Amino acid sequence: MTTELIRVRGLMENADDFIRAGKLLKNGSVVAIPTETVYGLAANAFDVAAVRKIFEAKGRPQDNPLIVHISDMDDIAKLTTEFPEKAARLAEKFWPGPLTMILKKSDKVPDEVTAGLSTVAVRFPSHPVALAIISSSEVPLAAPSANLSGKPSPTTAQHVMRDLSGKIPMIIDGGSCEVGLESTVIDLSGEVPTLLRPGGITLTQLRDTIGEVSVNPKILEEVDDGEAVASPGMKYKHYSPSAPVVIINGEAEVFKNYVIENSRDKKVAVLCFDEETSLFEGSSVSVVTYGSISDTSELAAKLFASLRSLDDIDPDIIYAREPDCGDGLELAVVNRLSRAAGFSKISI
Ligand code: TXA
Ligand code: MG
Repeated sequence: MTTELIRVRGLMENADDFIRAGKLLKNGSVVAIPTETVYGLAANAFDVAAVRKIFEAKGRPQDNPLIVHISDMDDIAKLTTEFPEKAARLAEKFWPGPLTMILKKSDKVPDEVTAGLSTVAVRFPSHPVALAIISSSEVPLAAPSANLSGKPSPTTAQHVMRDLSGKIPMIIDGGSCEVGLESTVIDLSGEVPTLLRPGGITLTQLRDTIGEVSVNPKILEEVDDGEAVASPGMKYKHYSPSAPVVIINGEAEVFKNYVIENSRDKKVAVLCFDEETSLFEGSSVSVVTYGSISDTSELAAKLFASLRSLDDIDPDIIYAREPDCGDGLELAVVNRLSRAAGFSKISI
């Protein structure tokens, strides 16, 4: 299959392309689309055969459910049996935007989308191109991130091209994704709302809006083999470059000495803050930065692209730096980096 790459110049300029993408989707194809978080690999959420194509193209485990994307609040009634008052308050404040809500599913949503769960993940994205394509398809779109399973989520169309070229018919190139990390996932199907995945809408923002929100502990811990999890995505190694990643916490000078010491007999790369670049001048260590320590939005936006560029260096090991963890966007950055590292961290 040849993959058509369509560069977006503007909503008006590409109106015909969005209609074409919408038709492909409605008729059972998959299409990669930009969103404000990461690129998604979309398919008609009500078409079982189309949804299966997503799993096939990504090599995704069957038991990992998909997020359904809408462009109109009227779609909620087709997908869910219940829209709690707290969900309405969150929707009012954060939709369209990088927030996914887990809700009780309606019978119309196929088991292939929810991996047999009784709940469905719903998101109303804000990216104008995503909204144009969902609208023109006239159906809610199931869409996981448009990467090969296990690879970092794609934040540019070129990342999607590298992972899925030849496997899907069309990629819509809307440029770099603004947030750069996948949406916040909150479970509203139970008694107490629970954060399952941190993202662009922060824990602080959620609590300010609906009060008590518990945090699933697996956000910052490894899942043991065979352990039951609230969100199947937590079980899988994610976001990983090919080389092992180890997070090093401690003062810059101590970090530098540790890395230099460990680079004598192997090819070492570091993923660090802009401010730390000069630490490795004149050494054999390859340096990739992902933004300023003082700009968490930049760290979030650049993390996945930086993890991918580390693959091009092909090091034996990657030592990485993480921001201090709080209840803001840094929680999402630390979560993704920790998972890329398989939770391997050293404090020195
Ligand atoms: O920002 C995003 O959310 C992107 C863009 C494309 O919208 N999508 C995305 O999808 O990140 P994906 O498939 O890579 O991640 C979906 C996550 C997985 O961790 C999955 O286990 C979880 O949501 N999930 C989906 N349905 C669920 C459900 N019913 N209950 C619990 N977790 C669920
Ligand atoms: Mg994903």
